[in-house]
Parts: sequence; structure tokens; C-alpha cells
Amino acid sequence: MNVIVVSSSPNKDGLTAACAGAAITGIQLAGGHAQEVRLNDLAVGMCEACDNGWGTCQPDHECQVEDDFQELHAAVRQADALVLVSPVYWGEMSESAKAFTDRLRRCEATLRENSHLVGKPVIAVAAAGGSGGGMITCLLSMERWIDHIRARKFDLIPVNRWSRDYKLVAIQDAARTMVQEAIP
Ligand SMILES: Cc1cc2nc3c(=O)[nH]c(=O)nc-3n(C[C@H](O)[C@H](O)[C@H](O)COP(=O)(O)O)c2cc1C
Repeated sequence: MNVIVVSSSPNKDGLTAACAGAAITGIQLAGGHAQEVRLNDLAVGMCEACDNGWGTCQPDHECQVEDDFQELHAAVRQADALVLVSPVYWGEMSESAKAFTDRLRRCEATLRENSHLVGKPVIAVAAAGGSGGGMITCLLSMERWIDHIRARKFDLIPVNRWSRDYKLVAIQDAARTMVQEAIP
């Protein structure tokens, strides 16, 4: 099972990175293959709402804004499952996560039941390293996104500075269980 682990913090050793690392360990423990993608290392710009609101995303299910998104989109389409880890910024996903999820949603949600992610399990993690607030509103947007692309909510996990240690264990277990469920 090939799982893409997408993280979206500029910090390479912060809470988000620790959560992504825990997911990768869980995937590997179950015999899966983890492909790590750090959005902040890529050039994935925001949706430009081309033309009168819909560009090629609606008729062709491809984004016409050319940057690193195209390669990432192809990788996500081919993956069996996805882990999305975002730091909580203002009770929302980070800007890099928002750019990626917005553009992917336009291309895949417009395919409806033919979305390349239909039924694929997704684990979403909201990492709130500041006040610890905003995890739930962040997860709400992530949940709505999973619904729009017709993927399957395997788990939605909030984590903050105080819950870090036991939530890292939970993230690892969730990822391991997700892969074990898929491999007979
Ligand atoms: C612009 C901005 C907004 C933030 N808003 C929140 C917030 O709403 N709640 C919270 O707990 N932390 C907030 N934080 C703190 C981040 O969630 C915290 O730095 C988190 O650990 C980031 O993950 P990292 O350790 O991987 O960088 C914010 C940080 C930034 C830069």
C-alpha cells in the first residue's frame, strides 16, 4: 500500500513534522510504503480562480496554473491512501495546505463519483502548537475537504503541545491500522 504523507509547516522539526514522522513509522510498521511530501519545500501556489471562476479544473479535472501541483496531483491520484498533517493557523489549515487542498478539490470534486480519491482512506491531523485552540475548526475544514473529494475519513486527529506524546502514539497506531486494514 502506497500512502502519501503530506505535511504543511515551514518547520522541519516542529509538531507537524513529528506528527508526519509518527504516521510514516506506523505505515512502515504495517509493511506499507510512505511517500513524504513537505508542501513548503514545493512551489504550489494558491488557486487563481481562472476565467470566470472555473478554469480547466471543471471540464478537464486538471489545474491550468503550472507549478509543482501537477506532479503532486498525479502522485495523489496514484496513491492508495493519504495522511494530511497541517499546523493550525488561525483555527484553519496553514496556507500551503489550503493552496494544495483547494486546487486538488477543484480537480477531483468535479469528477464526483469518479474522483480518483473515491473511498480512499484519509487521516487528517490538526497540530495546534500555540494556544492549543482552533484544532476543531481546522479539522472541520479538513473533514469538509475529504467529503468533497469523496475520500473516506479514516480518522481526524487533533493534537496540541500538551497532548503531543500520547497523540503521536495515536497517529502512529492510526496509520498502522489503516495500512493493516488494506493489506490482507
Ligand atoms: C500565523 C499563525 C497562526 C497560528 N494560529 C494558531 C492557532 O489558531 N492555534 C494554535 O494553537 N496555534 C496557532 N499557531 C501556532 C502553530 O499552530 C504552531 O506553531 C504549530 O506548532 C505549528 O506547527 P510546527 O511546530 O510544525 O511549526 C499559529 C501560528 C502561526 C504562524
